[in-house]
Amino acid sequence: MTINQQIIIHTLGPSFRACTRIEQASIPVAGKGEVLVRHHFAGVNGVYDQMMCLDRVEHTRVVPPVGAGVEAVGEVAAIGPGVTDWQVGDPVAVVRAGFGYRHYQVCPEVELIRIPAATPEILAMIPSGVSAVLALERVGELGTGETVLITAAAGGLGSVATQWAVRAGNHVVAVCGSDVKAQWLASVGVNRVIQYRREPLESVLAKEYPERLDLVMDSVGGPVFDTLVRNLAPHGRLVVCGYTSDRLPTAEVTSERIYTQLYWKAASVRGFMNYRFARYAPPARQKLLQACAEGSVQALVDPRSFRGLESVADAVEHLLEGNNLGKIVVDLRPIPVAENQ
Ligand SMILES: NC(=O)c1ccc[n+]([C@@H]2O[C@H](COP(=O)([O-])OP(=O)(O)OC[C@H]3O[C@@H](n4cnc5c(N)ncnc54)[C@H](OP(=O)(O)O)[C@@H]3O)[C@@H](O)[C@H]2O)c1
Repeated sequence: MTINQQIIIHTLGPSFRACTRIEQASIPVAGKGEVLVRHHFAGVNGVYDQMMCLDRVEHTRVVPPVGAGVEAVGEVAAIGPGVTDWQVGDPVAVVRAGFGYRHYQVCPEVELIRIPAATPEILAMIPSGVSAVLALERVGELGTGETVLITAAAGGLGSVATQWAVRAGNHVVAVCGSDVKAQWLASVGVNRVIQYRREPLESVLAKEYPERLDLVMDSVGGPVFDTLVRNLAPHGRLVVCGYTSDRLPTAEVTSERIYTQLYWKAASVRGFMNYRFARYAPPARQKLLQACAEGSVQALVDPRSFRGLESVADAVEHLLEGNNLGKIVVDLRPIPVAENQ
């Protein structure tokens, strides 16, 4: 019997595990202009998942019960009337809030993304890698020959951003929290890796890059953000891509107002939110997949194996504990009978 299950947020709170449960569902039927997609792998966005459970995602009001997860890759399992561009068996990616953590979804044809193969590596690019490229290019005005700093540099977003900034010919400073991450960052050509558990970010910047950061892509926030603002160069740009460390704000903010830093240096702080740049995603995606195919960008998928919807809460916690190296992917394919015994 074919199983279709989905993760549902059934209540609000800070724990993804406690707020969600797996429910059985019937396999939906593709209507006119729609396609039934069977998921093979889903990407994990632990910070977003937790913020959804807290109803803290600014553009979505969460009224349980609602689906969880965003991106998945898989294959076309059936096509509805009027669909001519897709065939059963085609590999496909889908990026739809509320639809990632499930075995099947029906999706309007126009939202499907054509991919070469339904692999975990594709999920490192779509949508995380594409967001990294858009944040750097569209908001950060990525150039060449500048000093570019990326935080959470070996994470889902950061691993692509870092390689993209290196590839563009910049002096890249990458900030990360483990030696394994530092090794990987050095292997992709980063000029200076700051493993913040070994050397404090603030003192390294004060000594080696005082007010010398032309472009910063930060997704950590909190005191790290304050330190980065202080070290922006004249005309420097800081792109806010998230605030992982500050996602459950508890501490009183005592830093000075940022205009005192920005004004004199003619520097700026800018926000990036991927869905607001949706129209630029297709060309960025094409460029990124091409760079991957040519080997100039590596898809970094976290080596820890997560299998089945039952493992999604573990995967979310793995990310929120900062343990991931690259994009976390959950395998949703049925377990082969031999392995299951
Ligand atoms: N703006 C957008 O459109 C957009 C799109 C995608 C993601 N995001 C945001 O970007 C951030 C990164 O997302 P991601 O899915 O790619 O995650 P990720 O970077 O793969 O994982 C989070 C990483 O943050 C670092 N970190 C620093 N301080 C932390 C703390 N206090 N607690 C936990 N982790 C901490 C950890 O790496 P180190 O210890 O090595 O620093 C951890 O591995 C998130 O805030 C997410 O919401 C934004």
